[in-house]
Amino acid sequence: MKTELTRALKEKYALGAFNFVNLEMLKAIIAASKETNFPVIASVSEGALKYMGEEETVAMFKAAKRDAKVYLHLDHGKDLTLIKRMVDLGFDSVMIDASSHPFEENVRQTKEITDYAHKKGVFVEAELGTLAGIEDEVHADKNIYTNPNEAKKFVELTNCDSLAVAIGTSHGAYKFAGESKLNMEILSEIENLIPSTPLVLHGASSVPQKYVELLNKFGGNVKGAKGVDESLLSEACHKHNICKINSDTDLRICFTAAVRKYLTENPEEFDLRKYLGAGKEEVKNLLIEKIKLLGKF
Ligand code: G3H
Ligand code: 13P
Ligand code: ZN
Repeated sequence: MKTELTRALKEKYALGAFNFVNLEMLKAIIAASKETNFPVIASVSEGALKYMGEEETVAMFKAAKRDAKVYLHLDHGKDLTLIKRMVDLGFDSVMIDASSHPFEENVRQTKEITDYAHKKGVFVEAELGTLAGIEDEVHADKNIYTNPNEAKKFVELTNCDSLAVAIGTSHGAYKFAGESKLNMEILSEIENLIPSTPLVLHGASSVPQKYVELLNKFGGNVKGAKGVDESLLSEACHKHNICKINSDTDLRICFTAAVRKYLTENPEEFDLRKYLGAGKEEVKNLLIEKIKLLGKF
């Protein structure tokens, strides 16, 4: 992970970090990496770990990964004991998200994790600033941009390997009421102060309207969903220091839309492999497009 993100920083591109909650999603992520021959990060949230089981997740990942350039990452780790357990279980990378705490407490918790994880060669992402939005177990009411001077101090004090910044994105399918906008000025200030730290953009789903429309056409009811424009994502990773772009919502919408379509068009079918397979295939196609947008080819 360290080598990958250092290279991404130097050559100005980003790795996609995609969340999975089952074997189908994981296989779609791995297949997209293989088809593009590009590294990818497979992320699991604490909620996903509860759903799949901790040891089951790691065993499944190791078995499915084979020779693919795919890294296993803990997303939004908040429970320090759980984060350390994932370090011990063999994760490539962990995120300590203590961003809801005051600065000093965020530093304290992050430092505790970097000290622990670095001894075992595990990469650590931390977060400073607050993203708006609600997604199952990740909540925040306001969007508080990352303070560039605090970011510099934070990285020096914690020795984290990468930093998630708040520049206007939020989690979930409803990110903007009007035009989508990111604060590139703050991003520039941050990267001028910590030029060797790879930056991470959470809440970076673009919420492709073609999948929202497909979802709604086949019985879904998702209205007014809006994500980050792809041109802004491209600018953030090719002109700035965003080296990891997180997406979960897009995969969920895409998978669900494809399953709904399959079931509606094949009402006689009840073989799980058929409709989950349709979801997996469509997510793979979505991810190939994303990797091409963010990566370097
Ligand atoms: O950024 C957060 C992830 O999308 C969280 O998802 O807690 O619903 O699994 P989850
Ligand atoms: P989205 O809700 O935009 O997909 O963000 C996911 C994320 O940040 C995971 O950490
Ligand atoms: Zn996130």
